[in-house]
Amino acid sequence: MNFELTEEQIAVRDAAREFAQMELLPGVIERDTHQRFPAEQIKKMGELGFMGMMVSPEYGGSGMDTISYVLAMEEFSKVDASASVCMSVNNSLFCWGLETYGTEEQKQKYLIPVATGEINGAFCLSEPEAGSDATSQRTTAEDMGDYYLVNGTKNWITNGNSASVYLVIAQTHPEKKHKGINCLIVERDMEGFVVGKKEDKMGIRGSDTHSLMFTDVKVPKENRIGNDGFGFKFAMSTLNGGRIGIAAQALGIASGAYELAVKYSKERKAFGTEIANHQAIAFKLADMATQIEAARLVVLQSAWLKDQGKDYSKMSAMAKLYAAEVAMNVTTEAVQVHGGYGYVKEYHVERLMRDAKITQIYEGTSEIQKIVISRSVLKEL
Ligand code: CAA
Repeated sequence: MNFELTEEQIAVRDAAREFAQMELLPGVIERDTHQRFPAEQIKKMGELGFMGMMVSPEYGGSGMDTISYVLAMEEFSKVDASASVCMSVNNSLFCWGLETYGTEEQKQKYLIPVATGEINGAFCLSEPEAGSDATSQRTTAEDMGDYYLVNGTKNWITNGNSASVYLVIAQTHPEKKHKGINCLIVERDMEGFVVGKKEDKMGIRGSDTHSLMFTDVKVPKENRIGNDGFGFKFAMSTLNGGRIGIAAQALGIASGAYELAVKYSKERKAFGTEIANHQAIAFKLADMATQIEAARLVVLQSAWLKDQGKDYSKMSAMAKLYAAEVAMNVTTEAVQVHGGYGYVKEYHVERLMRDAKITQIYEGTSEIQKIVISRSVLKEL
């Protein structure tokens, strides 16, 4: 078993680390306070190839492996999880599915501009009454011959307002349940499509999360991904990879908070010495470091399985479940290490603690990950 990263993977990680420190850190508190989308920073990340990291160069991507993607996600998330969720949606939820299942025309028209960072993409599955229970789609895509007529509402859509192109999951044949669902590519300027209200969130406040409304939107048949009824399978397969990205995000939030806690504990003095010299603090740091290393192994393993072409659905759910738990534990402890300073914005850890919470909710709650994992292990034994 080889745990060494390649030179290329190390170079990607270091480039992401430098970018995060130089470009994301300045202004991150202000963007969080005012819910400002990091548009300029996302543009630069696109120019550097971070928006289509795993897409083949033929379609404008960087042609890298999933391990490199995970390393970059961790570095960006240490500093700004609002920027990293935008990156994760573009890479995992938009580009991967389109490259894997799209037609050549769809790839030329929609994959290349997202992979090159020219525009953002979004993935629209959740609805006001269909979050965890994803088969209960109320948005409809009525078959009108050479086009679909789309009606309905989507909720909690990351990149909701910054995207120009949307993968929309909708029901075409309700009697067939999940086998009657399709995924359609919707362009922002199609008539009848409206970006709704922006959510005022607890964390990842710089990311733009919106509801979307569709009223008699005519979507050409050639914008359907895969065969009629493939939409639910498409969404589930996409989320298998998406969960690796969010697991890496959770890992980054945890390691960002941990690094700040270590630094602070070596500077802050109490009872005549740096607080790191007190076991009450040193033991916390030991627990945090151990949890982060364990999370990193499971996150990297899920990425490795994907790169090897092996089944990664169970492992990606495990990675997301565990890394999200670690993110909550570690950020909470990082605030505790900082004492009162941990509770104010200037020291960053309160934001990381707020950001950590979403990793237990989006791309399937922790409870959904346990459904995926338990179904898989029950089949194995
Ligand atoms: N990978 C591939 N296929 C899968 C799958 C997976 N992980 N999970 C289910 N499927 C397939 C099944 O094999 C089955 O196919 P067949 O009919 O051919 O056998 C089909 O999908 C239906 O499966 P189930 O009967 O298991 O479906 P279910 O209704 O019991 O639900 C579920 C399964 C796992 C709970 C699923 O509904 C789910 O994952 N829900 C959570 C959805 C989610 O993650 N939403 C987040 C929205 S996206 C987001 O958050 C993005 C963002 O903004 C950052």
